[in-house]
Amino acid sequence: MYPMPTKAELQTFLRTRRSIRRFKADPVPASVLTDILHTATFAPSAHNRQPWRFMVMIDSSAKKHLSDAMAGEFQRDLEKDKLPLEEITKRVNKSRERINSAPVVVILCVDMSEMDAYPDTRRRKAEYIIATQSTANAGMQLLLAAHAEGLGGVWVCSPMFAQDTVQKALNIPKSWEPQAMLLIGYPVEIPAPREKKPLLEVTKFL
Ligand SMILES: Cc1cc2nc3c(=O)[nH]c(=O)nc-3n(C[C@H](O)[C@H](O)[C@H](O)COP(=O)(O)O)c2cc1C
Repeated sequence: MYPMPTKAELQTFLRTRRSIRRFKADPVPASVLTDILHTATFAPSAHNRQPWRFMVMIDSSAKKHLSDAMAGEFQRDLEKDKLPLEEITKRVNKSRERINSAPVVVILCVDMSEMDAYPDTRRRKAEYIIATQSTANAGMQLLLAAHAEGLGGVWVCSPMFAQDTVQKALNIPKSWEPQAMLLIGYPVEIPAPREKKPLLEVTKFL
C-alpha cells in the first residue's frame, strides 16, 4: 500500500484547485517543473500510447516571440469580427501580457503518429478524439501536480485557434499538434471558487 492522503484531504485538494491567471514573478524551480511534467505523464491514455507532448518555455524571449506571433493572428481574427479598434487593442494586449508574465508556459500538443491508423473517416475521427482526450488527461494531471506544489495554473485554449502560428513560431515538430497552453506560476491570489452546476443537473442515474 502506498502512503495515501485521506479521502477528506484528497477531496479538499481536488476541490480547491482554481484556474490561476495572475502570477508572482518568482521562478518555478527546475526540479519542481520537471516533477509536475513527470507526474503529468502518469495520466491514463488510449492504448497507453501517451500521445501528449509538451513544449515548455521559461525563457522570456521565447515567450515574447510566441505572444507576438499569436497577437498578430488574434488581431486579424478580431478585425474579421469587426470589433472596435479600441476593444481589439485591449484584448490583444491582455493576451500578450498573460503569456509574457507567466513564469512557465507549456504548449500541450497531441502527436497522432503512434496512434492507430484507419482507412475510414469514422474511425479516424474517433481515434483522433481519443488521442486528444488522452492529451487533455495529461494537461489536467499537470495542473493538479502544480496545485500540489502550491503553484497555480490555467488552461488556455487560444492555441487551438492559431495552431500553425504556434507551431511555426516555436519550431514545434510537425507531428506535434498544439492543443492548449498551460500558464503556470506561483499565484498572486487564490480566486473564489467558480459556481459549479448542481450534480443532478449534469447526471442521470439509471
Ligand atoms: C478546455 C478549456 C479551455 C479553457 N480556456 C480558457 C481560456 O482560453 N482562457 C482562460 O482564462 N481560461 C480558460 N479555461 C479555464 C476555465 O475558464 C476555468 O476552468 C473555468 O472558468 C472554471 O474555473 P476553475 O478552473 O477555477 O474551476 C479553460 C478551461 C478548459 C478546460
